[in-house]
Amino acid sequence: MIHSLRLALFASLLAIPSFASAQDKPLTRIAFGSCAHQEKPLPIWKSVVGVKPELMLMLGDNIYADTDDMKVMKDKYDKAAAHPDYQTLRKSCPTLGIWDDHDYGKNDAGVEYAKKEESQQLFLDFFDVPKDSPLRKQKGIYQSQTYGPAGKRVQVIMLDGRYFRSPMKRGKREPGMTYTPYIANTEPGATILGEEQWKWLEEQLKKPAEIRLLVSGIQIVAEDHGFEKWMNFPNERERLYKLLRDTKAAGVIALSGDRHLAELCMMERAVDYPLYDLTASGFNQADKKWRPLEKNRHRVATMGHGDNFGVVTIDWNATDPVIGLQIRDVDGDITIQQKLHLSDLQVGAHVAKKGVVEVEQPKPKDGAITALEATKKVGEKVTVEMRVSSTGGTVEKRLYLNSKKSFTDAENFAVVVMPKAFTGKLEKATRTTFADKIIRVTGTVTTFKTAPQIVVDDEKQIEIVSDK
Ligand SMILES: [Fe+2]
Repeated sequence: MIHSLRLALFASLLAIPSFASAQDKPLTRIAFGSCAHQEKPLPIWKSVVGVKPELMLMLGDNIYADTDDMKVMKDKYDKAAAHPDYQTLRKSCPTLGIWDDHDYGKNDAGVEYAKKEESQQLFLDFFDVPKDSPLRKQKGIYQSQTYGPAGKRVQVIMLDGRYFRSPMKRGKREPGMTYTPYIANTEPGATILGEEQWKWLEEQLKKPAEIRLLVSGIQIVAEDHGFEKWMNFPNERERLYKLLRDTKAAGVIALSGDRHLAELCMMERAVDYPLYDLTASGFNQADKKWRPLEKNRHRVATMGHGDNFGVVTIDWNATDPVIGLQIRDVDGDITIQQKLHLSDLQVGAHVAKKGVVEVEQPKPKDGAITALEATKKVGEKVTVEMRVSSTGGTVEKRLYLNSKKSFTDAENFAVVVMPKAFTGKLEKATRTTFADKIIRVTGTVTTFKTAPQIVVDDEKQIEIVSDK
């Protein structure tokens, strides 16, 4: 009996085809999603198969293990793997996976989970990773693969946000809250990826690719909810953005899961082009009924409720390749769709404006910083020295002094002079008083929507240092 079972298992392993040759073809359809409870029905697998993905990405909570007992975990993986429609999916295209907390082993767990080494091997078994793969020997399950020929490359960067992750910090449950939120952990050394993975990620981002899918179990861009997210480690999130800026990695789109909801988020100023984060969750764990929208300053679109999966489509034949970011429901119907051009995801894409010639900004003196530096100092008290490139508003309501010709420029820094500041030396000031002058302003950098600014309430905060 055992012998025949082994034979059957061997035969089923053989039945998963090798997709080595698929790696050379340009990808045009990638499916992804997260949160599949092995004890509940999974009608969505049929719909995922139905979109005929060329690559499948499993973003974690691929099973609900929640155990220290590796026998229990293995049984749950076996149950998930045995689903006939899941098997059909696996046979139809290559699959890459990362884990989130529940398949890692414990709700919201990180570095402290004691069975992570054993759990890693079971995770790799589930994805049929060969026994001699380097993934079996490294700490953590992060990996990267590039598909397609030069000019049509998709790099898939699969992050491990569990193995090295420092403990979370809990906040206070305020009256009316349905859960105790996590708050920022800014302790020195607090990490999501760990140093080794950070070094590896930098190497990956320097490799050539036209489109890069940055795959994370938890959301990268959303920052207002109290559940797990990159913003629980703000220094790590800023480190990620800085790494993307410093490596000038173009074409990055984040994919995430975990949240039991689907939404598209976007951050204009994180990197040097709009950074989209498409969250698909869960395969069968989403709210089945409408629930009130949580606050999310970066939300572009939401599905509201219902099980879901994501699809990234790429039309390489267009002159400027078109990328489709989709969320689909359990029936396979599109519920969110955003179309982007590849040129939208190039460094400088959102500041490129034909015909606008910016004036030169001064080199600040006496400890002051430039307007561009100030855009990255939200929350800090700084002194900025900048030339006023354009003005807006009125003295009666508020006067805007901009570092860029257009206030909508993603790199603009605004000084907002409030009516009560027009006393003393500013008593007779108007818009023309400031136009094209170099000003020196001290205050705390805040944001209006996402635009960085200093609000001037007191004339002592501001001085005109040069007429030229
Ligand atoms: Fe999760």
